[in-house]
Amino acid sequence: MPAILKYCYILNNGREFLILTLIFTKLISQETIQKIQSQIDILDIVGSYVKLRKRGANYLGLCPFHNEKSPSFTVSPTKEIYKCFGCGKSGNSISFLMDLEKYSYVEALRWLANKYNIEVEETAVSPEFKIQQQTSDSLFIINKFAQEFFSNALFNTEEGQDIALSYLKERGFREDIIQKFQIGYDPEARDSFAKAAIAEQYNSELLVKTGLVVQRDAGLQDNYRGRIIFPIHNPSGKVLGFGARIIKKNDKAPKYINTPENEIYIKSKILYGSYFARMAIDKADECLLVEGYTDVVSLHQAGVENVVASGGTSLTTEQLRLIKKYCNNLTIIYDGDGAGIKAALRGLDLALEERLDVKLVLIPDGEDPDSYVNKVGSDAFKNFVQANKKDFILFQLDIALKDAGADSAKKSAVVNQVAETISRINRAEDFTKRQDYIKQVSQILKIDEAGFIALVNKILRDKINKEENKQYNPVAAPEENNAAGPADTVSDMLLNRDELNERAMIRSLLEFGNQPWNETETVADHLLKEIEENELDKMMENPALVTILEHYKTWFREGIKPTDKNFLYHENRQLTDTVISIMQTNDGDLSPNWKEKYEGHIATREELFKEEVFSALNYLKLRKIKKMIIENQQEMLNPLPAEDILLLLQTHQHLKKMEIELTRQLGTVIYK
Ligand code: UTP
Ligand code: MN
Repeated sequence: MPAILKYCYILNNGREFLILTLIFTKLISQETIQKIQSQIDILDIVGSYVKLRKRGANYLGLCPFHNEKSPSFTVSPTKEIYKCFGCGKSGNSISFLMDLEKYSYVEALRWLANKYNIEVEETAVSPEFKIQQQTSDSLFIINKFAQEFFSNALFNTEEGQDIALSYLKERGFREDIIQKFQIGYDPEARDSFAKAAIAEQYNSELLVKTGLVVQRDAGLQDNYRGRIIFPIHNPSGKVLGFGARIIKKNDKAPKYINTPENEIYIKSKILYGSYFARMAIDKADECLLVEGYTDVVSLHQAGVENVVASGGTSLTTEQLRLIKKYCNNLTIIYDGDGAGIKAALRGLDLALEERLDVKLVLIPDGEDPDSYVNKVGSDAFKNFVQANKKDFILFQLDIALKDAGADSAKKSAVVNQVAETISRINRAEDFTKRQDYIKQVSQILKIDEAGFIALVNKILRDKINKEENKQYNPVAAPEENNAAGPADTVSDMLLNRDELNERAMIRSLLEFGNQPWNETETVADHLLKEIEENELDKMMENPALVTILEHYKTWFREGIKPTDKNFLYHENRQLTDTVISIMQTNDGDLSPNWKEKYEGHIATREELFKEEVFSALNYLKLRKIKKMIIENQQEMLNPLPAEDILLLLQTHQHLKKMEIELTRQLGTVIYK
């Protein structure tokens, strides 16, 4: 039997129509996508949600993503993007719909196709994908059936009412909340759910996959017998899996049994409660994170709805990215015991790398958020959270300092640790934030601020060197002079300029790539050749920009002449966001008569693009030369024969000359 047909047996008898629709799940064809993209009018789409006024080449309105009184939401019809200078949100027509209407990429495309009367052509997908897609769909169907079965058992059976509903009510859960979260109960009998599922002719292999049943000698048996069932929803409300809590305390059985990993339940990507929390997170511009299912449910009941749970394990990067999609402010609310603190601290570095602003609240006296809100009530809980929110980095410092006591070796380890943490705030946009931390931390530690800046910079540089050395040679990065002094603040500026420069280079490529550079080459020809010959891409430190460069090269090789438009509607949101962040919306802002009114001519970016390309390239070359100088100097420290030393000295002089020349050329260029 072909593999595909096997899955037809998920449901039998009279349900074939459902199966057929499952098998023939198709994707929107590339051609349709292109048709939609060519039709998109961002003014039309955004304009149906936001009142827009013309301002120069752009349009201005009140931002729909945050509350504001004076407009800072800008739409550029030529670039097909929007940017809000108030809250920083930016995107294209598709991401606008995704963010505002909470559509998925495909849903947004379908919405647009419908709007512009474009017939959606669908392409067949690969058999492997089809099967996986189908398995996923089947698991969702079974989970939905199970959720309804468990809810019914809780509310409409005597056993459910006597054992489970009474337990939930005793804990203070209201019936409307139990219903909202679709909490249920699996009866004590060995196979009450299994029997019901078999009677409905669900495929047993798939049933086992959901984790709801196990295969025993006696046949399929319930896995969650006698437990309260918490369904776990995906962000659009479909049931991915379950957490099943024991009712009577039992030392032999685990407190919770959770769904095993399968096609749809991927623990590292799940946040319990996200479906119920999204709107509230949007509104509060803050996401609260707790550990357990009951914490989420109780807080909702108390009117705190912007809350999700990690499920009691360390936070993963994927979970943090999910949060980052909703907002930038994460407040972790954990138990105040040692384990809770440790768990929270483990997530900190990752959260910083995802560029979230992290605060921490510890719940006192052996309580957890669920028990605490039940004890003190809704208002007191909210007040407690507000009053006890600690900055996470400073909190970490506090804990470490207490731990170090008077031990000076431990103390200097603390200094290093906090410098390492701060070094993770390493995007150009976060420059001020990093400076703020540096100031505060130096005060707390009573150390010299300039010295501390130097330390943070050294860690940053070492990281970059390490990254580069991974590519250049397997030898460890050279140690730079340890006597870190205030002079290092200069390289701090450099680091910011590094990123600005990388952005400028990619922007030049996207914006001017197809313009002529000289008689025979386009800008793209020239840039790509230079990058390749000098291996300049290895000097780039922003991985998102490197990815854009890689995509560009691939398309370029295929004969496509890419522009920012090629990236603008890419399905990879991170990619489109990065491209939008480097695109400029203000270049058309001058009114057409501006030049007539004023005599002096101010060069436009358009006119300066050759210089921009030139300086972007030179800047990267300069960084490379600087690195080579350091490596060369390092080599000179080795005991070597005189002629080798001489050679190294000559190299040094040569490199220095190049450095001076490049610096001189760059000196005339002003960075944006
Ligand atoms: P807790 O033990 O704090 O449970 O575990 P809880 O959420 O407070 O539940 P109640 O209030 O005692 O009923 C926190 C979270 O860790 C996961 C669950 O997601 C739980 O909500 N956990 C805990 C498990 O997955 N398995 C376990 O055995 C225990
Ligand atoms: Mn609890």
